[in-house]
Amino acid sequence: MPNRVVIGSQWGDEGKAKVVDFLTLDADVIVRFQGGANAGHTVKVENKEFVFHLIPSGIMHEDKLCVIGNGVVLDPVQTLREIEDLHTKGIYPEGRLIIANNAHVVLPYHSTLDKLKELKAGKAAIGTTGRGIGPCYSDKVNRIGVRVGDLLDEKELRPRVEVMAAVHNEEFTSLYDAEPIDPEVVIKEYLDLGQKIAPYVKDVCEFLYGQLKSGKHLIFEGAQGTILDVDQGTYPFVTSSNTVAGYASCGAGVGPTAIDQVVGVVKAYTTRVGNGPFPTELLDDVGDKLRKIGNEYGATTGRNRRCGWFDAPVVRKATIVNGLTHLAITKLDVLDTFKEIQICTHYVCDGEKLNLIPNQLSKVGRCTPVYETLPGWNSDTTSCKSWEELPSNAKKYLQRLSELVDVKIGMISIGARRDQSIIIDME
Ligand code: IMO
Ligand code: MG
Repeated sequence: MPNRVVIGSQWGDEGKAKVVDFLTLDADVIVRFQGGANAGHTVKVENKEFVFHLIPSGIMHEDKLCVIGNGVVLDPVQTLREIEDLHTKGIYPEGRLIIANNAHVVLPYHSTLDKLKELKAGKAAIGTTGRGIGPCYSDKVNRIGVRVGDLLDEKELRPRVEVMAAVHNEEFTSLYDAEPIDPEVVIKEYLDLGQKIAPYVKDVCEFLYGQLKSGKHLIFEGAQGTILDVDQGTYPFVTSSNTVAGYASCGAGVGPTAIDQVVGVVKAYTTRVGNGPFPTELLDDVGDKLRKIGNEYGATTGRNRRCGWFDAPVVRKATIVNGLTHLAITKLDVLDTFKEIQICTHYVCDGEKLNLIPNQLSKVGRCTPVYETLPGWNSDTTSCKSWEELPSNAKKYLQRLSELVDVKIGMISIGARRDQSIIIDME
C-alpha cells in the first residue's frame, strides 16, 4: 500500500473521516498533522456514531496506531474527553495513541481570545469555531507558545505560562475590558492534565521514521479543507494552519519523499461553515434541500452549513496546490432525488474567464459562476456496490467532475457507513 495523504479539497466537511476510515483498512498508522479541535470528524460503524475532534478516527481499528503530529494544536481537555468517550464505547487507545511532544497546546488564553476577537470584529468576524486555534498558532509563530512536552515539567511550563499570561492578560484587560486569567490556576490545571496525557507523549518524528523504515503504511489525515488554508484559501476567512498536502510532511516530521499519493476528498456538491465568500452558494430552497438531505449541520459548532453546487474552480485550485493524484467523491447519494444538477465549470470576473478561485477576496466577490446543467438520476444509489451498478446519469456526473478538475476518481462514497464505499481505482 502507498503512503497516502488524505485532504479536504473544498471548505472542510468533505467527509474526510469516512474516507480515512475506509482507507485505514490497509494502513498501519494514521497521522493527524494540522488543525485542532476545530475539526469535527463523524464516523459511523455498525450504526454506532463516533465524533472526533482531535484523535484520528483510525483509533476505532484495534490493530492501528494513531499519531497526533507536531503541526496540530492540542487541547488536552478535549483529548482526554475523547479518550473517555472511547472507553465508554469499549475502545482503548492506550499504547496505540501517540502525541507529539512538540505539538503546541491550546490554553484557556487562546479560546478566550478567539471569542473576544470575534465579538469585537462584529460584522467582520471570521465565524471561527471559538476553539482557540488562531491565537494558539499565533503564539507558536510568535515563539511564546507552550508545547505538549512542557506540560510534563513545571520548570518548563511555569516560565512559558507566565510570559503568555503577561501578554494576553494585558490584552484582555486593556483591549477587551475582560477579566485576566490567573497563570497559577493554569499552571496547576495543565500540570495535572500533563500527568494524564504523559503516557501518550513521544518524539513523533523518531517514531514515524522507525515505522517508515520497517515498511509500515501511513495515512496522513488532513483537517479542514484547501480553501480554508491560511495561504491558499479565501484569506482572511480561513483557518490558521496550512491544510494542504505539503504540510503533512511539516506537521508530522517526515520528509516529503515519504508520501506516494494525495487523495483529495470532494463532496459531490459544496458546503461552507463560517463567514466569507462562497460563489456557488444557494440561498434558496435548493440550498435548503441539500442541507436537509445532506444533514449539513456542523459537527463542532452545530451551525447550519451553507450549501451550493459543485464548484470546479475551487477543486481545480485544490488539484494544483495539493498535487492531487485521486479524488474521493463523497455524498453522491445526497443528489439522488434532484431532477437536474448544476456544476460550476468556471467563473467570469470583470469580463474575464477564470478557471481557478482567485486569491484576492474582493475579486472572489466579483466572480459570477457559470453553470452547466446535467440531468439527475432519480434513483437510490445508497446500496450500489460497484461502478457498474451506479445509474448511468450518476456515472456521467462523476465523469464530468473528474474531467473538469483533471484528476481520476479513486473512490466514491454513497452513505455514512463503511460498506457504502465504492473503490474505482486507488492504484
Ligand atoms: P473539518 O476538519 C469546516 C472554519 C470555521 C471558520 C474558519 C476559521 O471538520 O472539515 P477556526 O476555528 O479554524 O479559526 O475557524 O474555518 N472551519 C471549518 N469549517 N470544517 C472544519 O473542519 C473547520 N474547521 C474550521 O467555520 O469559518
Ligand atoms: Mg467536519
